[in-house]
This record gives sequence, C-alpha cells and structure tokens, in this order.
Amino acid sequence: MASSSSSSSSSSSLSSASLYGAAFLLWVLVLNGAAVCNGGSTSPFVRKVEKSVDMPLDSDVFGVPPGYNAPQQVHITQGDHVGKAVIVSWVTQDEPGSDVVLYWSKNSEEKKEAKGKHLTYKFYNYTSGYIHHCTIRNLKFDTKYYYEVGIGQTVRRFWFVTPPEVGPDVPHTFGLIGDLGQTFDSNSTLTHYEHNPHKGQTLLFVGDLSYADHYPNYDNVRWDTWGRFTERSVAYQPWIWTAGNHEIDLAPEIGEKIPFKPYLCRYHTPNKASGSTSPLWYSIKRASAYIIVLSSYSAYAKYTPQYRWLEEELPKVNRSETPWLIVLMHSPWYNSYNYHYMEGETMRVMYEPWFVKYRVDVVFAGHVHAYERSVSTC
Ligand SMILES: [Fe+2]
Repeated sequence: MASSSSSSSSSSSLSSASLYGAAFLLWVLVLNGAAVCNGGSTSPFVRKVEKSVDMPLDSDVFGVPPGYNAPQQVHITQGDHVGKAVIVSWVTQDEPGSDVVLYWSKNSEEKKEAKGKHLTYKFYNYTSGYIHHCTIRNLKFDTKYYYEVGIGQTVRRFWFVTPPEVGPDVPHTFGLIGDLGQTFDSNSTLTHYEHNPHKGQTLLFVGDLSYADHYPNYDNVRWDTWGRFTERSVAYQPWIWTAGNHEIDLAPEIGEKIPFKPYLCRYHTPNKASGSTSPLWYSIKRASAYIIVLSSYSAYAKYTPQYRWLEEELPKVNRSETPWLIVLMHSPWYNSYNYHYMEGETMRVMYEPWFVKYRVDVVFAGHVHAYERSVSTC
C-alpha cells in the first residue's frame, strides 16, 4: 500500500499516468491538449525500498468520534451529472439513528433537510454498522454549504463547496490519489495532498481503497478504519470513486461470492445520471472537465453493459462545453514495469481506438505502485 510520491501535472494528449499512493495536483487550465511532448517537471521523490507498514488499530487517525452512535466515516461524492447534487454517506455503529442530512448555504440561516436511506451488510463473520447514503439535490453552483449528520448529542458538522457551473473556461483543481491503503505512508500521502499549496478542490481516486482484503478473512473492520482515516478530507470535498482489484472482495472459500460487496455498500456513485446500469462505471461533468470512470474488473468485451455504455457515452461529450476529457481506471494500459505488466492490455485493445477517435486528453490509472506517464505521438 501507499508509498508516498508526488509529481506535478503532465501535458499530453492521450497519456496514461500510473501512480501508487501518489497525490498530485492536476491544473486543468495548465493541461495542454495539443500534441506537445513537454512532460513538465516531476518530484525528486524516490520511494523507499522497505514494505509499507500498516498503521495499528489504535492509531489516532482511526479514532472513533465521541458520543453515543456518533456518525463516523463521513464521505461525499458528486451526486448528479453536473455538480448540483452531493451524495453524503456515513456510518452509525450502535443503531440506525437518523437518515437525514441538514444543510444550508454559507449565507443562509435556513437549514434544509434531505432524507436518505441506510443499509447493512454481512461479510463472513463481520456485520457492518448502519451505512447511510443521502443525496442532496438542487444545490447552487460555486457555493459553500454546511451540513450536519447525526441527532441529539452526536450531531457532527462539515462543509463542502459546490463546483462552478459547467463551462469551457471554468478552472477547477483536481487532486489525484490511488492505491491509498492505511499504512504510515498512506497517512503521509494524504497529508502531502492536504498540504499542497494549490489546494485540490475535488479528488480523483483511481481505485484500491482500504486493502481490507489483505487481512484474515478480508477483515471488514479495515473498511471502517479506512473510512475514519480518510474522513478528514473526503467529508469536505468529493472524492470521485473508481473500483480497483482490492474492491473485488470475492472470497468463495469463506462463502463470499458477490464481487465488490463492501465497496458497493459503502461507496455510492451517481451512475444513473449518466445512464449507466452499474455504479462501477459512470461519468460526471465538473467545471470544464468531462470525467469517465471505467471498471477494469468488470466485463468490458463487446456487447457487455460497460462496452455498450461507453460506446454511447463517448459521442455525447461536447468539447465546446467540457474541453477536458479525462478517463479514470485502475489498471493502466501502458506500463513498462514488471509488476502488473500488460494486465490492462485486453481493455486497451478494446477501447484504445475509441479514445483516439474521441481525443481523450488524459487517462489516470493506479495499480502499479510507481509513477510513469506516456504521451501520444498521434
Ligand atoms: Fe490494484
């Protein structure tokens, strides 16, 4: 899991950046869609050779918020196609509590109310807390909102800023993290992102979240600890989710035969807003960017749902409205390292001609725990 590294943005058309536990900022305005082979500058960071060590369960980053049944693991993501909705999710451990989110804009005293739903799931001998998901809709663009979850003595307050209205000249700052995990280096990576002077406004997460599957019986307690660890960022700015191999959680040897179960129960995406039948692949518009998220570990061959969706999706992108076309996936198509070599090859064969045809600006992937990027020559 995460070794920390950092880099500044790249300039490319159809480039693939693979990184591991790396947080770097992408300046949309600086990204150059023309065929300029200037790779820009990168960080001098060199990861250490030693394996990253997991943070122990009693680490302060995993602390449970005080108060009976206090909401924990609060996280937000975009809740519609254009950025006027936010999905707020959180967990209550002792009882369901309330599904309501109270929210109000910075300049308003009136608290509005949105009601969500909750669910629980079992995984082998683990039973989850009550996982709440609530979508707040009809928000104003470019506005700071406060929101509260919980009831009685355990109300917790957070805030977020909605993106500006979608348009070609709208700046927005995206951060990028993949393969985060919950090691000491994961904490360095997140801290590195938080301290970046350019201040990412939205984080693109390219898969492999908690690595709970590294633990005996895929100990799902490690999904909870990861949720508490990341709350300090993801409760305040949307993380755009991509599923990686560590989200598959397929363990027939212990009776777990439903792929992606913990991930799909915990992390919702606005897939229906882009006509997708699965939360694992979807698109959003945000500021001047059109972002397509793909699933490296779902079927993508001809006539599969993901294939059909992408085939219809790419022609919909209006480059005069959103000049930046960004694709997120977990397994990189271009990878010169031994590790995970050519794992993305079959998806590349299927979709690369479309990416060229529709002039995808940049592809971000994770999975390989080293930084690499390539630039199109066509
Ligand atoms: Fe991976």
